[in-house]
Amino acid sequence: MITRLTSELKPNRRAEAILPSATLAVSARAGELRAAGKEVLNFSAGEPDFQPPAPIAAAVRELVDRSPIHYAPVAGLPALRDAAAAELSEYHGHAFTRANVMVNCGAKHSLANLFLVTLEPGDEVVILAPYWVSYPEMVRLGDGTPRVVEATLDDGWRVRPEALAAALGPKTRYVVINSPSNPTGAGYSEADLQALYDVIEAEAPQAWLICDDIYRKLVYGDFSHASAFRALAGRTEQIILVDGVSKSHAMTGYRIGFLVAPPAIVAAASRIQGQMTSGAATPSQQAALAALRDPACVGAVESMRLAFARRRDLILSGLATIPGVRVHPPEGAFYVFADVSRFIGEGRAHADDVALATWLLETALVATVPGSPFGAPGHLRISYATSDEALEDGLSRIRSALASLDSAG
Ligand SMILES: Cc1ncc(COP(=O)(O)O)c(C=O)c1O
Repeated sequence: MITRLTSELKPNRRAEAILPSATLAVSARAGELRAAGKEVLNFSAGEPDFQPPAPIAAAVRELVDRSPIHYAPVAGLPALRDAAAAELSEYHGHAFTRANVMVNCGAKHSLANLFLVTLEPGDEVVILAPYWVSYPEMVRLGDGTPRVVEATLDDGWRVRPEALAAALGPKTRYVVINSPSNPTGAGYSEADLQALYDVIEAEAPQAWLICDDIYRKLVYGDFSHASAFRALAGRTEQIILVDGVSKSHAMTGYRIGFLVAPPAIVAAASRIQGQMTSGAATPSQQAALAALRDPACVGAVESMRLAFARRRDLILSGLATIPGVRVHPPEGAFYVFADVSRFIGEGRAHADDVALATWLLETALVATVPGSPFGAPGHLRISYATSDEALEDGLSRIRSALASLDSAG
């Protein structure tokens, strides 16, 4: 049968402006190779490889067995909003109530909601590079304009206040701080936050900070995560928090995130979410409540943190033995952001980081993520959210692959 189209259905201007997620693309290709029987080592994961703490699955099972699963209130189960408000109030030394906390379908959704309900066309959002791939795209989705400020490996991937100052102005609506960072693992201390705020106060006092604290519980060595509310107490409360259980509790697939904002913003985001997704999945909210309330989860999170700390040391000592690869030891999260610029460019086998990462995946069967989509060409993001054995094996594959490039000249 011949069907005729009277009009072609095309993605609109908004959809065309958004780039696909580069990190998900690598995982997809790694999955295809694996499905074809290749033994791919995955260093591209943006999620813990652990089983979540036991009370989390127990909470889901209990709910599913006990009752039908109904819609949850759009802004979240009151008990979960209260539990998040209580934990965050204690952590930040600032009194949040249920009205300040909204439960979303992951922290990604928290940010998307925030940009959708607060940005006006022309508003600028300052993003510190290397940045999480989704920030610029979500800002564009909200009709805002991303303004990128670059940090360097030699500065520990922390943006210098003078570089930030140059990007600030009357149009600055937000400055996004992600500490520890995806993709670099860099963490900002209290003093760093204060120094950044000095220039914000001077150049863009109307700006609000967005603190994406999704990795705050995963910090290593001497570094402790700094709360912006504590660091800037008495100076500003123009701070939005994005938090959640995805990374800390190995709950990425549960899709729960928290937006912590003034009540009017939570109410506005609830109007949007109420017309889009409704509340986050009820069993996931129940699971997140267990994550925050059950004391056993505290110990489980700490064991995962210790495992990540050990793997971080393992990967850092392995990378240190590969000539030409430069890294800054990350303060947190589960990524190392390696400078591989020595292996790419003119006169080399690979033109850029994307070509190098593709070659590593196709030939050495190691999946990493190129730095370009994070705003830092010439780098690879290597995730150590994988087993010790895979790390050892992958490091030796990367070592031989890069050595073959070096000897090829
Ligand atoms: C910096 C950063 N913020 C937010 C998120 C989103 O987390 P969620 O899985 O809760 O949506 C991620 C996930 O990769 C992230 O790396």
